Amino acid sequence: MRDFTIDNLTEIVLEEYGSKTKDPRFRQIITSLLEHLHAFVKDVELTEEEWFKAIMFLTDTGKMCDDKRQEFILLSDVLGVSMLVDAINHPKSGRGTESTVLGPFYVAHAPEYENGASIIKQDQGGEVALVQGKVTDPDGDPIAGAKLDVWQTAANGSYDVQDPTMPEYNMRGIFTTDTEGNYAFVTEKPLSYSVPTDGTVGVLLNASGRHAMRPAHIHFIVSADGYESLTTHVFSAGDEYLDSDAVFATKSSLIGDYKESNDTDKAAQYNISAPFSHLRFDMGLMPVGAG
Ligand SMILES: [Fe+2]
Repeated sequence: MRDFTIDNLTEIVLEEYGSKTKDPRFRQIITSLLEHLHAFVKDVELTEEEWFKAIMFLTDTGKMCDDKRQEFILLSDVLGVSMLVDAINHPKSGRGTESTVLGPFYVAHAPEYENGASIIKQDQGGEVALVQGKVTDPDGDPIAGAKLDVWQTAANGSYDVQDPTMPEYNMRGIFTTDTEGNYAFVTEKPLSYSVPTDGTVGVLLNASGRHAMRPAHIHFIVSADGYESLTTHVFSAGDEYLDSDAVFATKSSLIGDYKESNDTDKAAQYNISAPFSHLRFDMGLMPVGAG
């Protein structure tokens, strides 16, 4: 029989997985992963104590996860892996709105609202904002019936799922573009916030000397029949964390400029009072298969 040594173990493991894994894509992934993982362990000469610490870190990350909290997505985000996957799958084409991370706080089945409705279920005293825009195809033609799934933090810097005092689906909603491709909703102007630091991601950020802040943003998933679904944010111009997002998710094309508006007619139309903060953010979708 063969002895397994530091010199032959990687080769033997790769041969074992490479020759027995049937699915070609899975074979490519598992053998590449093992090759890099073994190289990493050898590179840093991992001690048994460090290895066990890593096992406990991943165990604790899993224990933080439930139907409202996804510490593994947050971990992927702060390691820059989510944005790497995003960049590979949605290369910059100069057409259509750029994508960015989903983040750990998406919740499906938010309430569906009429255009112009407010997603504020609990007033946190934030600055009232009207967000409007048009969803178009690459030719600039409007896409009617596009669904916009929208979510953001409340003015206290928390998502509803992080704060038991908030009503369910506070600051979330699904809107549908009208025949001209337009959408509109009332919200509070988002503020920069800290990603949760009470779990393993906090331990990692602290040990690495990184801050946990994200620049203010509103999340969107925009979908329409025949078009690629778009997961993105609109960031707030002037935010102090635009250049140091804890999850590396900023893109200059996704920065929106909130302007103070004294338009009393518009305020009346949307049942808010002037002056209010006004953001226009148009989005472009790409047809399925258009790259
Ligand atoms: Fe967010």
